[in-house]
Amino acid sequence: MKALVLAGGKGTRLRPLTYTSAKQLVPVANKPVLYYGLEAIRDAGITSVGIIVGETGPEVRRAVGDGSRFGLEVTYIPQEAPLGLAHCVLIARDFLADDPFVMYLGDNFLIGGIADQVSAFRAGGYDAQILLTRVAEPQFYGVAELGPAGEIIALEEKPAAPRSDLAIVGVYLFSPVVHQAVRAIGPSDRGELEITDAIQWLIRKGHSVQSHMVSGYWRDTGRLQDMLECNRIVLESVDRDIKGAVDTLSEITGRVVIAPGAVVENSILRGPIVIGADTKISSAYVGPFTSIGADCVVQNAEIEYSIVLDGSSVDGVSRIAHSLIGRNVEVSRASGPPYTHELMVGDHSRIQVRS
Ligand code: DAU
Repeated sequence: MKALVLAGGKGTRLRPLTYTSAKQLVPVANKPVLYYGLEAIRDAGITSVGIIVGETGPEVRRAVGDGSRFGLEVTYIPQEAPLGLAHCVLIARDFLADDPFVMYLGDNFLIGGIADQVSAFRAGGYDAQILLTRVAEPQFYGVAELGPAGEIIALEEKPAAPRSDLAIVGVYLFSPVVHQAVRAIGPSDRGELEITDAIQWLIRKGHSVQSHMVSGYWRDTGRLQDMLECNRIVLESVDRDIKGAVDTLSEITGRVVIAPGAVVENSILRGPIVIGADTKISSAYVGPFTSIGADCVVQNAEIEYSIVLDGSSVDGVSRIAHSLIGRNVEVSRASGPPYTHELMVGDHSRIQVRS
């Protein structure tokens, strides 16, 4: 069994972060989303992994390397443009050969791994297996309609009027028959080769397609609120681990992780929180569900329920919440009159100020 991990695409909903970096590498609890998927694949006993890469390929290659540090053997498969999930299967034909495989969307976040799904697929001898979960806004996902016996009647990609609230989760299992399906379908209205159409083709041709409900937590991390929510869920289960230096004026409560080289002075930290290596927290409040990357500075500031990426500083500003701050960003207080909001922000940024 092999794995095909999709780490190309454009990541339009996480702009401006995704102008300069891959959306699959945005960190959750200071670890890229993609790593969680690779670990789940390894934990399901799969070692041979093909990773589809697009424009951000060099960054993904730098982050994952040959895969040995995850216990994987990684082959990179460049995709010239994001032409659809089924297009990824098409261009991975040589890598996949005639093996069954799991296709894992690199921006999906699934707690509890995929070992059970892989075993069920192997035991059932199906041609394809999809995972489903109930969501509040099915129009943003692939949607499945099931019959009375739980059989799949129809699959639709991001329908304007969804016929159920069952979203297709980004972990699919396929036998090699899917290669016929991806060759048989044409592009959708949005110009992509849709995997939902390929699966629909399999059903129409009488192949066995099984669906399973996901029991655990799942999110597509494509949007800000989903990133913050995944961050919260992962932080809920971190263990307190303080390796950096904390002075006696600071107060640390709950599950707080402070990486080596980090310094905390005269601050209040209320977990769950992770603080990256060589970050300085000074005269600050860091509240629950916050991940601060490496080489950051948070001083004379208050922040909670947020993600701050490496190399950024928040200085003299209170209070930041529900925020995603990219790499090497400076957020600071105006030093003198006029007390205006001075902004230099990238395209597609979103800023909410109190006044
Ligand atoms: O997250 C689950 C949803 O994922 C499913 O419910 C949908 O049926 C499925 O189509 C997909 O929808 P998205 O709109 O979220 O797909 P997205 O374009 O974000 O791509 C998913 C991943 O695959 C992402 O890591 C980028 C990568 N990708 C995407 C395309 C279209 C590629 O590597 N190449 C591509 O051509």
